[in-house]
Amino acid sequence: MNLGKDLTPEGWHAGGCASTRMRRSAAFGRSTRRLAGIGKRLLFKLAGYALLTGWPGIAVAEDLPIRSVQNIFTPKSGPAETLFWLSVLVLSICAVIFLVVAGLLTYAVIHYRRRGPADDEAEPPQVYGGAAIELAWTVMPILIVVVLVLVTARTIGEITRPQPGGNSNEELRIIGHRFWWEVRYPKHNVVTANEIHVPVDSRDQPALTEITLESADVAHGFWVPELNGKTWAVPNYRNTMWIKPFLRAIYLGNCTVLCGDQHANMLIRVFVQDRKDYDQWLADQQKPPVADPAVAQGLKEFVANSCGTCHTIATTAANGVFGPDLTHFMSRTTLGAGVAANNEENLRSWLEDPQVLKPGCLMPDMKLNDTQVDEILAYLRTLK
Ligand code: CUA
Repeated sequence: MNLGKDLTPEGWHAGGCASTRMRRSAAFGRSTRRLAGIGKRLLFKLAGYALLTGWPGIAVAEDLPIRSVQNIFTPKSGPAETLFWLSVLVLSICAVIFLVVAGLLTYAVIHYRRRGPADDEAEPPQVYGGAAIELAWTVMPILIVVVLVLVTARTIGEITRPQPGGNSNEELRIIGHRFWWEVRYPKHNVVTANEIHVPVDSRDQPALTEITLESADVAHGFWVPELNGKTWAVPNYRNTMWIKPFLRAIYLGNCTVLCGDQHANMLIRVFVQDRKDYDQWLADQQKPPVADPAVAQGLKEFVANSCGTCHTIATTAANGVFGPDLTHFMSRTTLGAGVAANNEENLRSWLEDPQVLKPGCLMPDMKLNDTQVDEILAYLRTLK
């Protein structure tokens, strides 16, 4: 809006105190500007989010399609499918109840409407009790609730029951941290973060992944809607769940329990891959980190600036466990638990000050100078 024009005397309308109007107008200007600012920031966030969630997508080695909408009505894994059918049943029953109630209500409103002044004096017929109808509206809801309880109990049993496969199942330990996910593959001695790789289930090569959920600090919630229901990750307790995804793709998920400033940027990506790609990924993750002498100074700076007290890089002096393991950092497509694409520009911004990309995250501004940023950046970029 053109605030200047509004404030000139010609712009004032007759009546009303000029100074009040001016104050109001200025306040209006301020609030619209503030709204515009919020709108701009929101648009920027949304654009960034769209970029991260699959449009146009972040390049992945074997070109997995990204399922960018987290939708419980398009299940792509065992438990999610069971939950989907339960929700279809519940929603159908509720839809029938809604139609019956809304239909009767509409009928009553139309049929018993006021038909003229005579209606104002007349009293409708007075009815007391009615055993049949009272039984009907007591017994029917009880029956409906009993059916829903039984079906829900059966579904809970089905999705928590230990699954066949036993020792051949993949096992995952996922630990929620403020504000990222530690991902451990105890059978394969692999540790990564935020981006979870699992094999796809097929008739020839059945694959099931059992997941243990824990937390290192506060309560978090692990939810990838197309793969399974939400499961809590709480301190001092182990929750378990399993997934059996049958469509290879990248699935997106979120932390679902408000855990602090960056709760919304505690994103999950699940890469459901063909068995051979998954095995290849595991083999790559098991390798020691690349040790390129050309960037040795970067590793020195990394350790000297106490990055290594929070982050681990296998075979080096960096062995912290407070932040994500960086041994194969460049095999991940995003950084900051999905807050930005893992490219040179974003990584530079992150090293200069993580609070810019992820305000409130627990990695402080390390006050690195430009040379240190360049060296550490060059080093990290080699950790394929
Ligand atoms: Cu972790 Cu919200």
